[in-house]
Amino acid sequence: MTSAVDPGGFVPPPYPFDVPPEVREMAAALPGGVIDLSRGVPCDPVPEVVVSALAEPDSARPYPPSVGTPDLLDAVVDWCSRRIEVSLDAEQVGACVGTKELVSGLPHLLRLRNPERDTVLHPAMAYPTYAMGAVLAGCRAVPVPLDDEWRIDLSAVDEDDAARALCLWVNTPGNPAGGLDDLGEAARWGRERGVPVLSDECYVEFTWSGPPRSILQHGVEGVLAVHSLSKRSNLAGLRVGFYAGDPDLVWYLRETRRHQGFLIPGPAQVAGAAALRDQAHVQVQAARYRRRLDALVEILGVVGVEAGMPEGGFYLWVEAPDGNHMSLVRQLASELGVLVSPGTVFGPDGVGWVRVAAVVSDDDLEVVRRRADSLSN
Ligand SMILES: Cc1ncc(COP(=O)(O)O)c(C=O)c1O
Repeated sequence: MTSAVDPGGFVPPPYPFDVPPEVREMAAALPGGVIDLSRGVPCDPVPEVVVSALAEPDSARPYPPSVGTPDLLDAVVDWCSRRIEVSLDAEQVGACVGTKELVSGLPHLLRLRNPERDTVLHPAMAYPTYAMGAVLAGCRAVPVPLDDEWRIDLSAVDEDDAARALCLWVNTPGNPAGGLDDLGEAARWGRERGVPVLSDECYVEFTWSGPPRSILQHGVEGVLAVHSLSKRSNLAGLRVGFYAGDPDLVWYLRETRRHQGFLIPGPAQVAGAAALRDQAHVQVQAARYRRRLDALVEILGVVGVEAGMPEGGFYLWVEAPDGNHMSLVRQLASELGVLVSPGTVFGPDGVGWVRVAAVVSDDDLEVVRRRADSLSN
């Protein structure tokens, strides 16, 4: 039988966050079992306002608007004015089904709009979906190095790559290292070169150094801010996000995405609007992450691993004492029963580092603390 599949065609690579089975087995061998700090999957309660909003079923009947219901868009506009002090019209905003689909799909849509360009610039150590979006669009993914404070170093971008760029991704606070970019500089850099700057701001509510930063604070021309409720409101399962910014780009995305059929389910739009209007649960969540980050820094210190607090986000970015990230991954699995991500998940520059997610219940954190204490006694 002949195959219709081109042998040179795209083969999906292994999913980058999967932990090697032998490491999981090491952690599972400890009494009490595995404590997974390798993923940023929320573990705290869904906010009460969302639980009540989900009890209202009528919004499940009609097809929901792809761009977002007027109520959801109004809640976004209100959030932008309250939290980042940016005033927008509802037409400058669109909804997305969580942000991963948008991140992975944007290069394809940008290339259709501008076939002359074929390059996606992204932070060299980053959420892997920026590069995957380029691959899925048949484009080049070109990493941009970070400086020693984990900020994107735009002076390192080759001007030939900039001339071919469909977009530049920035991520503040950054995953994995928690750095805060100068978003004004990024916006300026993009405008000077006609490169749209896509600013992934999904951790903005967990900014520890100074007030929350958004690229929209530097004007909307040529930029797009991308936001998610997954981390802010413990709603990764609801799939609600939004984008906002440059009116032409937002119009283009709203219209193409309607044709593609990206729709946040009606009940999720109602619940998402309720979550965005409530800030109290976010304050509680931010305090939890802060406390857990501090606790993890202390626990790692007990097993001889030095870690510093990030400027934002809920990850510790930790250098392996002997420079070997896999030996630190194994040490933490065997001594503490904890799974963490090897830094190389975020790009080749992550060699020698691991990411520890402070997404862990207080009970599990206590178990890790006891394990660490028993080693030091
Ligand atoms: C930097 C970054 N961007 C985007 C996402 C996607 O989040 P979601 O699709 O849940 O909105 C994640 C998820 O971990 C992330 O870390």
